[in-house]
Amino acid sequence: MEAITQSEFGDADVLRLSEVPDPVIGPDQVLVEVRAAGVNPVDRLVRAGLLRDVVPHHFPLVPGWDVAGVVRRVGLAVEGFAPGDEVFGYQRKDHVQHGAYAELIAAHERGLAHKPAGLSFEEAGGLALAGSTALQALRRIGVGPGDRVLVHAAAGGVGHLAVQVARLLGAERVLGTASPRNHAFLAGLGAEPVAYGDALVDNVAEVLGGDARVDAVLDCAGGAALSDSWALVRDPARVVSVVDLNVVALGGLYAYAKPVADDLRWLADRAGAGELRVEVQQVLPLARAADAHRLIEGGHVRGKVVLAVG
Ligand SMILES: NC(=O)c1ccc[n+]([C@@H]2O[C@H](COP(=O)([O-])OP(=O)(O)OC[C@H]3O[C@@H](n4cnc5c(N)ncnc54)[C@H](OP(=O)(O)O)[C@@H]3O)[C@@H](O)[C@H]2O)c1
Repeated sequence: MEAITQSEFGDADVLRLSEVPDPVIGPDQVLVEVRAAGVNPVDRLVRAGLLRDVVPHHFPLVPGWDVAGVVRRVGLAVEGFAPGDEVFGYQRKDHVQHGAYAELIAAHERGLAHKPAGLSFEEAGGLALAGSTALQALRRIGVGPGDRVLVHAAAGGVGHLAVQVARLLGAERVLGTASPRNHAFLAGLGAEPVAYGDALVDNVAEVLGGDARVDAVLDCAGGAALSDSWALVRDPARVVSVVDLNVVALGGLYAYAKPVADDLRWLADRAGAGELRVEVQQVLPLARAADAHRLIEGGHVRGKVVLAVG
């Protein structure tokens, strides 16, 4: 099959379109013909070798943890899927070697769900990893009815899903930080846009009125956004970051997304019902994976970048 591979760590140029053997599935796996592979900032970290002390890597490796496609074959122990099913999934595995930037992937059942009919493969390919991150992080800080929630980097892959998920969990108000060009986009998702930068604390106060604070913060930006969060939230224990480990020393939580089939089904149900929209800024062919990485590295993607396969 054709796949994007890398045989060394480095910049985007190490990504090559290659011919590699078809994957072999184990008993708990599903062979998926990939139609779309979501591109995430973590793919860039893998590519550069920044996760080599966290997960074992094996060269040549095929990157990509986010997938949508059609089931071709199922392993002996798989009960929930059959050939021909349209699926999507978050395929972070215990070893980095056989990822989603490929025509076929051996996908673990635990990170797979049926794709809602109303969602395109490209949209579904961008939903699993970012949506799971948003849902799990917001649950960790108990977001629910009546909450006022602030999401940092709300126009990005995780953020734009998080503002919608927060509303679906019952949040009364959701504020989201973005540059002004994304403010109308955020308003369209049901969030109250706030400009980030030096005046962030004042900008939030202006939206909330007076010295009011938010109940919970999801940080997808880190650095100054996280530092400013302590002045903006009532209870530091309700700050969660998916980017910045400093959050823990300051009394908040760090969340790292897990592949959980129930969470994928939760996202699929909402997306299928039209309650959760996946914004895809750009679809690129598989062969242009390196360009997709350069786009992500620019730091200003709205929603998702997805690779189309096949
Ligand atoms: N822990 C986990 O499990 C986990 C899972 C997924 C992602 N992550 C991490 O979470 C972060 C976000 O991921 P993502 O996929 O959402 O990234 P992304 O889609 O690449 O984020 C791009 C967005 O960031 C916004 N942005 C850039 N600088 C900002 C700032 N200083 N303040 C507020 N917004 C800013 C941009 O908005 P403007 O264009 O309007 O500036 C853009 O829309 C990444 O660092 C990623 O590695 C962690």
